[in-house]
Amino acid sequence: MTLPVTIHQNYSLIHQNTLGLPSIARYYAEVNTVEELQEALTFAKEKGLVILPLGGGSNVVLGDVLDALVIHINLKGLSVVHRDERQVTVTAMAGENWHEFVLWSIDQEAYGLENLSLIPGCVGAAPIQNIGAYGVEIKDYFVSLDAINISTGDVEQFDNFDCCFGYRDSVFKGEKKDRYIIISVTFALDAVLSPRLGYGQLTDSLSEKHGDSVLTALQISQAVCDIRQQKLPDPKTIGNAGSFFKNPEVDQQTMERLKKEYPDIVAYPVGEKWKLAAGWLIDRAGLRGVQQGSVGTYQKQALVLVNHGGATGSDVIAFSQYVLEKVKNQFGVELEREPRVYR
Ligand code: FAD
Ligand code: EPU
Repeated sequence: MTLPVTIHQNYSLIHQNTLGLPSIARYYAEVNTVEELQEALTFAKEKGLVILPLGGGSNVVLGDVLDALVIHINLKGLSVVHRDERQVTVTAMAGENWHEFVLWSIDQEAYGLENLSLIPGCVGAAPIQNIGAYGVEIKDYFVSLDAINISTGDVEQFDNFDCCFGYRDSVFKGEKKDRYIIISVTFALDAVLSPRLGYGQLTDSLSEKHGDSVLTALQISQAVCDIRQQKLPDPKTIGNAGSFFKNPEVDQQTMERLKKEYPDIVAYPVGEKWKLAAGWLIDRAGLRGVQQGSVGTYQKQALVLVNHGGATGSDVIAFSQYVLEKVKNQFGVELEREPRVYR
């Protein structure tokens, strides 16, 4: 029998968001089973509370007080559901740590996620923005997810098409925003490793370490971890939410204008458009390593905003607005924030 879920009042989330922002949840529950989750949802319905699902808190900017029921999704479980000579289908519960899931999948001889090693957070949040790194996005291996419809309490399934995945985007940031809680995610991984080495820095680092030898998934995972640890601040040491802005897309005409003025601009073609490196834009605007009060940009990666200690959600938003405006004024390009802001 499951125990009734504990609902806390005025609960501090300072240790549950990687920016380390002080934030009080009016109501808070940690759920370890689907039954507990259903119970928490019933409680919220009775009280007319807004629901805010929280995983690892690595892609949120939290306000001082959240007038909501914050539900920490702590559902655990990993399983191989099918294996043949080509594919291994695996299901992970939403509360599993993403990086541990990646390592587990490699251990199961199920490949494809190694480039996504060391992305902070939980499995349940991964589909929300279709997490990606080093040339891979989860949509490449995603089969389906199960989610509870917050208004009906029913479990519904979404396949890859239903999720409308895009660059740092899904239906859960659009039409179905705030309507579902993801409880599990299923991936079809490769039974035979085929390394995805299109990302220059990763290829260089692997050939430096391993020469021409046949690579293992663990070696790729380790190389990704090494690159990430060199470039990105560890939230345990310095508060951050990874890239604070998406890399913006511009049309051909804008690209030509920018290229004339900034011949060394970093950009990649995406269909008929160009994706600009937002980190380069911020850096070139003279904002790498700057600090205003307790918020700044990271010295080694201008796209990452950091909390030097004592910042609030409003401080982070105000500083990000300053960065947005500087970039807009200098390049005529609008940046869009990546983390979800809750005030
Ligand atoms: P949270 O921050 O807890 O939540 C994020 C959003 O998802 C919130 O709106 C929340 O309500 C919602 N949510 C969470 N769980 C659920 C659920 N079960 N059901 C419904 N909604 C839910 N991202 C990348 O894509 N690529 C990277 O390379 C990358 N690098 C990063 C590096 C660092 C150092 C940091 C701090 C972050 C990085 N991120 C990256 C961003 C972040 O790790 C991902 O977005 C991650 O998926 C967030 O997971 P989380 O569990 O922490 O989500
Ligand atoms: N750059 C600068 N100055 C800077 C930062 C970057 O000139 O201060 C230049 C770099 O030299 C490089 C280019 O910008 O030429 C791109 O930088 P990087 O390779 O570090 O990648 P990114 O585009 O900044 C993206 C993702 C990351 C992901 C990496 C690796 C977005 C918004 N960010 O960063 O995702 O890990 O690529 O694939 O797409 C996240 O989403 O939180 C995140 C960390």
